Amino acid sequence: MINVPKGTKDMLPADSCKWQAVEAAAHKTARLYNAKQIRTPVFESADLFLRSVGESSDIVNEEMYVFEDKGGRKMALRPEGTAGVVRSFIENNLGETLPVKTYYIESVYRYEQPQAGRYREHFQFGSEYFGSDKPEFDVELISMAYDFLREIGFENLTLKINSIGCPTCRAEYNKALRAFLRDNINALCGDCRRRAEVNPLRALDCKVPACRKIYEKAPNISDYLCEECKAHHAAVIDGLTRVGIKHEVDCKLVRGLDYYTRTVFEINDGGPALVGGGRYDGLCEGLGGKPMPCVGFGCGIERLLAAADARGINFESHKPVVFVAAQCERACGECSRIVRVLRNAGVSAECDLMGKSLKAQFKYADRQGFKYVITLGESELDSGVYCIKRMADGKTQEIHADSICVDMGRILWQE
Ligand code: HAM
Repeated sequence: MINVPKGTKDMLPADSCKWQAVEAAAHKTARLYNAKQIRTPVFESADLFLRSVGESSDIVNEEMYVFEDKGGRKMALRPEGTAGVVRSFIENNLGETLPVKTYYIESVYRYEQPQAGRYREHFQFGSEYFGSDKPEFDVELISMAYDFLREIGFENLTLKINSIGCPTCRAEYNKALRAFLRDNINALCGDCRRRAEVNPLRALDCKVPACRKIYEKAPNISDYLCEECKAHHAAVIDGLTRVGIKHEVDCKLVRGLDYYTRTVFEINDGGPALVGGGRYDGLCEGLGGKPMPCVGFGCGIERLLAAADARGINFESHKPVVFVAAQCERACGECSRIVRVLRNAGVSAECDLMGKSLKAQFKYADRQGFKYVITLGESELDSGVYCIKRMADGKTQEIHADSICVDMGRILWQE
């Protein structure tokens, strides 16, 4: 038997209502913010991710699915959504009228050690805004992520936010951080020893408890921000307060992707981050486009569903409405006709496709959660008057073959 690949999951029919509810909330929230959907290929040139997410990041360095295609090109399954959207923005010259607000719902691939909330394929609802370096841009993007989580039903959200400055102030901070890491080098894990030289900021993202303890005493980037970055950060914080979004400044929040400048943030529900994002003012230019200030977020849908389950958030499953049961062979054709008429009138309907007995058809209708069952036998076919039964309480009514939609509308209206 061939099983699902390690670190991946099937979305099974029983869970489809949850996924559909999440996607509907994503589309709804995006529409409220006038963001437009974008779809980019699941694979891109590996170079795109090397030049954006960063060669020294874990995501690219250790977790990226890289392969050579038949033309000898080095390709990669996307390990995140931002780079492909930025590539498309530049390639399709999307920036004629700014701002441009995009969103996407897509799969992402990372070769990670699978564990709860960490998969090799996961899905993200994400958004990328192009065009403004104003703090209001950050605030609006963050409120979109926040409103989306509220729309799902989360109430106790924590927004952690920091500024990691621009390349100029970060260079100063990197010097101080590197010196700190060297002073503590013997107590650090192997990865952090390497990070100390290659990309010191990345060390702060380490999950090893001993390292985290040491980093509590590391220098804070907030003490190294230049005047412009400091003012920008303060204005973002002000803006969040003004729109009523609770936040905590976390001076050690750095995030694991290299393209960020200034604002970085994460939103959680008491557990691991559901949403991660930030500003990336240098990425467009770095990928060959015009200078373009941008900000974006990504939300992991599997993590969101797990957190929603833990919170008891209920995604109402869609209940089918009418099952049309055949009591005799002759009724089957009429059942199919009625089902089609009802569907065309917008009422979800089904009839037996398996040759089940009447009893088994009722059992099936009950298990599937149908609200009503119409039964057709010889006498109903002859009279054109059918009996419709409400499954919840067994109440029956008459319904007529030649006015089935009108009668059904009346019954549903009276519910
Ligand atoms: P990220 O923090 O790497 O950021 O991922 C965003 C979200 O995806 C995480 O907060 C988490 O919910 C989910 N996630 C990440 N890795 C996994 C995994 N292995 N399994 C399940 N869920 C996962 C980005 O990807 C950036 N592109 C976000 C962004 C957009 N920044 C600016 N624009």
